[in-house]
Amino acid sequence: MIKSRLCDLVGIKYPIIQAGMGPFPTTDLCIASANAGVLGILSSSGLANKSQPQIYGAFCRSGNADPDNDSPEEILRKIFYKVLENTRESQGIFGVNVMVSAEMREIAQVIVGTMLKVREEDPEMKKRFKVLITSAGDPLPWSEVIKKTDLVWMHVMPSVQAARRCKKAGVNVIIASGHEGGFHTSWEPVHSMILLPAVIDEVADENTLVVGTGGFCDGKTLAAALVMGAEGAQMGTRFLATEESDFPPLWKQGVVETPDRGTLVARGFVGPARWIKNDRSKLHQRNTLQKSPGVFLGVPDDYSTMDMSLIDFENESINAVYAGDKEKAMMAAGESAQRCNDLPKVKDLVETIMKETEEILRAVPNRLA
Ligand SMILES: Cc1cc2nc3c(=O)[nH]c(=O)nc-3n(C[C@H](O)[C@H](O)[C@H](O)COP(=O)(O)O)c2cc1C
Repeated sequence: MIKSRLCDLVGIKYPIIQAGMGPFPTTDLCIASANAGVLGILSSSGLANKSQPQIYGAFCRSGNADPDNDSPEEILRKIFYKVLENTRESQGIFGVNVMVSAEMREIAQVIVGTMLKVREEDPEMKKRFKVLITSAGDPLPWSEVIKKTDLVWMHVMPSVQAARRCKKAGVNVIIASGHEGGFHTSWEPVHSMILLPAVIDEVADENTLVVGTGGFCDGKTLAAALVMGAEGAQMGTRFLATEESDFPPLWKQGVVETPDRGTLVARGFVGPARWIKNDRSKLHQRNTLQKSPGVFLGVPDDYSTMDMSLIDFENESINAVYAGDKEKAMMAAGESAQRCNDLPKVKDLVETIMKETEEILRAVPNRLA
């Protein structure tokens, strides 16, 4: 069986992280993933989407919380305990993805604060809810709080420069996020084939593990990550398209049907985002070119400088997915969507990926000798 230092550090069977995919819930997906022996990750940024009732409602209902009456802390608590209870038999390990960009700072504090509180209440929660993945911002301001805890801290970032900053902050696992990835992508495109080995060369050592994300979806790609020196891969799009994933049927089917060259980049909630190509996302891309050209020029803008009609269009398009309106729907996914052609059960998916990875790694010395 293939194991890496990521498995030892976190206590998982396989070197795979199921990615958080906010603001959409991944609560049921996290349960299925933790039960399948990989690291299950909850999304949390849906908590910031109260102005979008479809997304907020789906997020709350994923933990059987009441969108109208429960406080943010109560909603999170219900989600955290739902995962704990439903992974008791397998003793699966799970964590939460928290976006720490400037506009998310306040809500991020609530999420991390609730996580730390809940872990102190229940020894089993402390033992198994042990990973915090921060993303979309600077890890350094979080160091003081997180380094006082026994959490395994991971941070998702897109460059060698950001990897150095993670190391300075004391991040345990640096997740190098290539431009192939689904939804949020970086302002400047560097793909996994360049980014991952560059980050490994720069920061990997006995205390700093590196994991790849963006484009990893099967045994071939996981084997490649491990051969490059990564300790595993985080997969988003591949887990989105599974039987247990919380995403609406239209979205999952959209991933399965994505053909060759089937995604594009246009404006997203917090910056550039990768979408499945359809008439609606092509229009959004053209609008982005006019109204937020920085997305294509590598020049960040934010809600104070950009044309908010782009965000309104995006909200309308995502609500349409939840309403099952294919004409108006826009669905985020990574380039790997073109390689995800089915909706397997998470356990079967994980076992297939690991079998293929093992076969490839065993065959390589003979094949090339
Ligand atoms: C629909 C969707 C939503 C996502 N939302 C988040 C998010 O809230 N926070 C985050 O750090 N990454 C987010 N991501 C990125 C994933 O965590 C992961 O890094 C990415 O999907 C990896 O690339 P892949 O899709 O090729 O596997 C999202 C990805 C998708 C597909």
